[in-house]
Parts: sequence; C-alpha cells; structure tokens
Amino acid sequence: MRQIPKVELHLHHEGAAPPSFIRGLAGEKGVDLSGIFREDGSYAFRDFVHFLSVYEAATSVLTSPEDYARLTRAVLEESAAHGVVYSETFLSPDFCGGGDVAAWREYLLAIREAADGAERDLGITLRGIVTCIRHFGPEAAKPIAICAAETAGDWLTGFGMAGDEMKGQPSDFIWAFDCAREAGLRLTVHAGEWGGAASVRDALAALRPDRIGHGVQAIDDLALVDDLAEQGIVLECCPGSNVALGVYPTWSAHPIQRLRARGVKVTVSTDDPPFFHTTMTAEYERLAASFGWGEEDFAEINATAIDAAFCDAATKDTIR
Ligand code: HPA
Ligand code: ZN
Repeated sequence: MRQIPKVELHLHHEGAAPPSFIRGLAGEKGVDLSGIFREDGSYAFRDFVHFLSVYEAATSVLTSPEDYARLTRAVLEESAAHGVVYSETFLSPDFCGGGDVAAWREYLLAIREAADGAERDLGITLRGIVTCIRHFGPEAAKPIAICAAETAGDWLTGFGMAGDEMKGQPSDFIWAFDCAREAGLRLTVHAGEWGGAASVRDALAALRPDRIGHGVQAIDDLALVDDLAEQGIVLECCPGSNVALGVYPTWSAHPIQRLRARGVKVTVSTDDPPFFHTTMTAEYERLAASFGWGEEDFAEINATAIDAAFCDAATKDTIR
C-alpha cells in the first residue's frame, strides 16, 4: 500500500505538523504548549471544536517564513514516505502574516522554495490553496481572499474555506469567493462534515465550488447525491478524519463507497494526519479492509484526483 503512487487533495498545512515538530518550536521559543499534548506526546482534544482550538494553539509557534519552510519540508518528507507524488495543501494567511499581503508573500515564497527543494529531492509536487476560516467570520475572509487573488498563479491555484461549519452561512462568504474566482482561482469549501446535506446544498448554491471538502453527509439526501454526480462535483473524502472525530462510528459505516457506487467522484485524503493518527498508507489499508478496495479501485481514485487537481495540464501530465 505504501508503494502505490498517491494524489492527495485535502491536507491542512499546519494540521500536518507532527507534534514533535510543534513541541520543538515551542521549546526553541520558550512557549508553554504542554496543555495541547497528551502524555504520550500526541495532540490532545475532546471533539471537533476543541480540535480547532488545539490546532490554533499549535499555530502560535509558527511565527516566521522560516518556520513554514521547515514545516513544509517535514510535511513533504512524511507524505513522500507514504507514496504521495502530488499534494495540495491548505494555507491560511491568518496564520501567515495575519492577512497582510506583503507578509503573506514572504511566507508563500518560503513555502514555495521548500516545496521546490522537496520536488527535486523527493519527487513530490505541491500546490497551494489559500483557505479562509469560517469561524473567523466573513469580514476576516476578505483580506484572505485578497491575499489569494494577489498571489494567484501556477503554484497558488485555489481558494477554499475551512473551520467550524456550524458557524455562519456560506452566503456570508460570497464576496471572498467571487474575489478569488475573478482572480482565476479554483474553489473548494468544507461542507457536509458536520452540517448535514443541507450544508452541502447551501455551499454549492452560494459559492459554486469545483470541489467540496468532505461532503460525505450528502449521503443523507439521495437527490443531492445525484446532483453531485451529475454536476461532476468532486468530494475530498477524509474517512480517517471522520472516524477519528466521530462523524461516523466505524470505517464500515463511512459512506465513501456508497457515494462512489452512486456515481459521485470521490477522492481520499488525510486532512490533519498526526491529529487523527493517520497517513495515506493507513487510509488505503483501511479502505481495502473495509470495502475490499484493490489496485483498480485505487487507480480510479487517483485518476479522479488528478483530473480534479487545481494544477495546470502540464503538471498533471507529469504525475499521471
Ligand atoms: N475541518 C474543518 N476545518 C479544519 C479541519 C477540518 O477537518 N482541519 C483543519 N481545519
Ligand atoms: Zn479539512
């Protein structure tokens, strides 16, 4: 499983930081982050909302472009070790310069340089998706969309929204998504992880994304499932994340196979791998064990992911 070449579309940059990496930075900077770790060294959180606050606490020690360069290298080494050949990462200017375009440019440059180095050394290609954070509210999303629009190009290829799906409405973020769309960015929105099928419908109608982050709760509305299939909306499924956070009680209860069987384009990602004790290899192993997926299924999933990737056609040709 580890050897299969994999394409990952849904990975939060800070959420991929190993706990040892964050603990190391906290030590260097004299910040006490002991409250976010368990005794065994892993991240400690009770539920999704607590996860978001632990996540934000971890970002508090990522304070410079250099920190992000080191993080990028660590993340890509781990991904490459699990056979990932292409990956898209969610980057949040909220954590990289606070939404200031000039500061964001410096962070982005450092991340890109580290990604270029990893591409040379490890054969893994990275692209960036700027992500606003829903629970920070629609006003905070505007400068984030401007950061994205100002740096849109062949590397920074997408705009998205993460954060607490139960806060606000997708329609609150139309300005930010229109700004990104007009800059030529491709779009993805977290929906249907917590907010049910209605949340997926609302996100599609208001923000017109190419892909949905998670989207799995669409399964509770078969008319919506058929719409997703017909419109070719791609779901960035992260089953290990959903099981770890209790969205579904077990792997076999996860709807990824039912969505796929009904014609929805599904892909597989890890979301925040060290938080959820997962890797791309582990996701594949669990899918094989739970649904009998084999080589052909994984080939299909990866072909879907390459088609749905936000990079240009020449880049896709290099990973196909
Ligand atoms: N869902 C929503 N927001 C997030 C997540 C997630 O799984 N990870 C980091 N931010
Ligand atoms: Zn996510």
